[in-house]
Amino acid sequence: MSETDSLKQESRMFEPPADLARNAAISGMEGYRTLCAEAERDYEGFWARLANENLAWHKPFTKTLDESAAPFYKWFEDGQLNVSYNCLDRNLQNGNAGKTAVIFEADDGKVTRVTYQELHDKVCQVANGLKSLGVKKGDRVVIYMPMSVEGIAAMQACARIGATHSVVFGGFSAKSLQERIIDAGAVAVVTADEQVRGGKQLPLKAIVDEAIGMGGCEHLKSVVVYRRTGGNVAMQAGRDLWLHDVTANQPATCEPEFVGAEHPLFILYTSGSTGKPKGVQHSSGGYLLWAMLTMKWTFDIKPDDIFWCTADIGWVTGHTYIAYGPLAIGATQIVFEGVPTYPNAGRFWDMIARHKATIFYTAPTAIRSLIKASEADANVHPKNFDLSSLRILGSVGEPINPEAWMWYYKNVGREKCPIVDTFWQTETGGHMITPLPGATPMVPGSCTLPLPGIMAAVVDETGNDLPNGQGGILVVKRPWPSMIRTIWGDPERFKKSYFPEELGGTLYLAGDGSIRNEKTGYFTITGRIDDVLNVSGHRMGTMEIESALVAHPLVAESAVVGKPDETTGESICAFVVLKRARPEGDEAKQIAKELRDWVGKEIGPIAKPKEIRFGDNLPKTRSGKIMRRLLRVLAKGEQITQDVSTLENPAILDQLKQAQ
Ligand code: WTA
Repeated sequence: MSETDSLKQESRMFEPPADLARNAAISGMEGYRTLCAEAERDYEGFWARLANENLAWHKPFTKTLDESAAPFYKWFEDGQLNVSYNCLDRNLQNGNAGKTAVIFEADDGKVTRVTYQELHDKVCQVANGLKSLGVKKGDRVVIYMPMSVEGIAAMQACARIGATHSVVFGGFSAKSLQERIIDAGAVAVVTADEQVRGGKQLPLKAIVDEAIGMGGCEHLKSVVVYRRTGGNVAMQAGRDLWLHDVTANQPATCEPEFVGAEHPLFILYTSGSTGKPKGVQHSSGGYLLWAMLTMKWTFDIKPDDIFWCTADIGWVTGHTYIAYGPLAIGATQIVFEGVPTYPNAGRFWDMIARHKATIFYTAPTAIRSLIKASEADANVHPKNFDLSSLRILGSVGEPINPEAWMWYYKNVGREKCPIVDTFWQTETGGHMITPLPGATPMVPGSCTLPLPGIMAAVVDETGNDLPNGQGGILVVKRPWPSMIRTIWGDPERFKKSYFPEELGGTLYLAGDGSIRNEKTGYFTITGRIDDVLNVSGHRMGTMEIESALVAHPLVAESAVVGKPDETTGESICAFVVLKRARPEGDEAKQIAKELRDWVGKEIGPIAKPKEIRFGDNLPKTRSGKIMRRLLRVLAKGEQITQDVSTLENPAILDQLKQAQ
């Protein structure tokens, strides 16, 4: 039975705990249906009401949704607000000044608490510091930072002055960083000397230097460096400044720059099926509204909650559910610098127990690796820890298999915490399809039902609705406030990628396959339908990895496919043809290592192929098209049962069976 078949048959249902349901923001399925009905009845009225109730507007909006230039939708366009004002000042006015905003735990276990007042002051000083360097409204700032209060403050400071940030994950290489600095046209980079993860110090500033050294970054005026470790870094006079110097004499207040609701809050690069990474551009008003609402609806956040999202600020989850959502709602959150396996694989459970976390949000890949670790070492099993503070668990980034779901439910949630399996994307800004902890009966492996106001559907290749029980393409039928606005600098690509003509041009194409259960209508995500891989919850395009490989002087051609992996969900398998004879034995091993390191340098360590296989050629049709379907079968180690008679070179398949 395939994974999809087993998911279709998955029929265990878990009801939300009654006391949680009673007090939840959306209580029971009736509460959910009431909101859905309101959105159906008066779509714009529904969003207008929520935007007025949840956001502090400097100037109120008069028009909710402008569809005149569809698919370039505009929400609340003539309204003005400031995102950082909504996240910080509003909390000071609401009596939350002394409330802990962030419980920061460093890699070595050192804990620092920051109140809303302190965070406000810090953000204002960074904002003033950036202004003193000439950064102004509309400028782009690249943030290449470790998980830190300073990283969050840098994002909030940009929002405060109306600069658009683009956070680049600290695991990306100099080359990737350079491409993003250039594409965004950044005037400043905020970075740190080094980051610390799993007891190791890893350079950041040195990588920034290398990136700039590659050229093309003439628009970049300043590099601001947060001193995290005190490690040795080179500072270039006239360009590089220490964060503590830039902020030293700055006042702890900074008048927020009020911007239009459509002003780009950030650009975040993500992988598509073709070409270079795309800069997903998000708005200020609609984005923040959805960050707040999903904190309320999906996480049922309450004033006393201790919220913990384990994502990195370099990914969208760290934007919406660390840097913005929890602050906008006035929550207390844990921010963790390190990794789940250091000093041992009990780190997450130990932190939940020590900080009394009530809501815990992590990725299936982390859960699966911690299951493995606790099987190998009973001491790190969650049963050894007091996890009684937990009330809600969450999962994000990739499909969670029913086995991992059950383990999470039993061993971490002790069968009393609902699991919100949140399906969403960089492009959607926030959750789209997810159970509600006080309403939705849960089925392991299903993200259940769309949030109120999200018109998700499953359609065929021409955009027609499919009946429940039939697998198809996941789409969203109506625009929603936190949706992607455009691809930075490439509106045509935005239209083509997300609103393709084949589907009629009005449906948002998520890029995932889905099937709805015949009885419940629940959605199950069946994986990407394009050439995007999901390795440990990290999105990568096969084309990106292929281009990196062929950039190596030895490589003539390559094809990259995903292979199912027990821990990481998918792993990268690269088929490579060299410009010289196919290597074997030790030579093959050595070249494979060289190519892996090369990809690590070109993109980042997360993109290194787990497997590399060499061939004299790749399986191609007579017209020269690479048969990726066959390569996927080979990667899995399965027998090829398809007809291969149309192949130019069927004998090549035998060569490609072996991994190096
Ligand atoms: C996948 C991460 C199944 C999906 C927030 C999507 C999921 C891609 C889930 C987006 C889930 C994310 N169940 N699949 N709960 N959540 N995905 O942009 O393939 O890094 O298209 O955003 O991750 O990845 P991204």
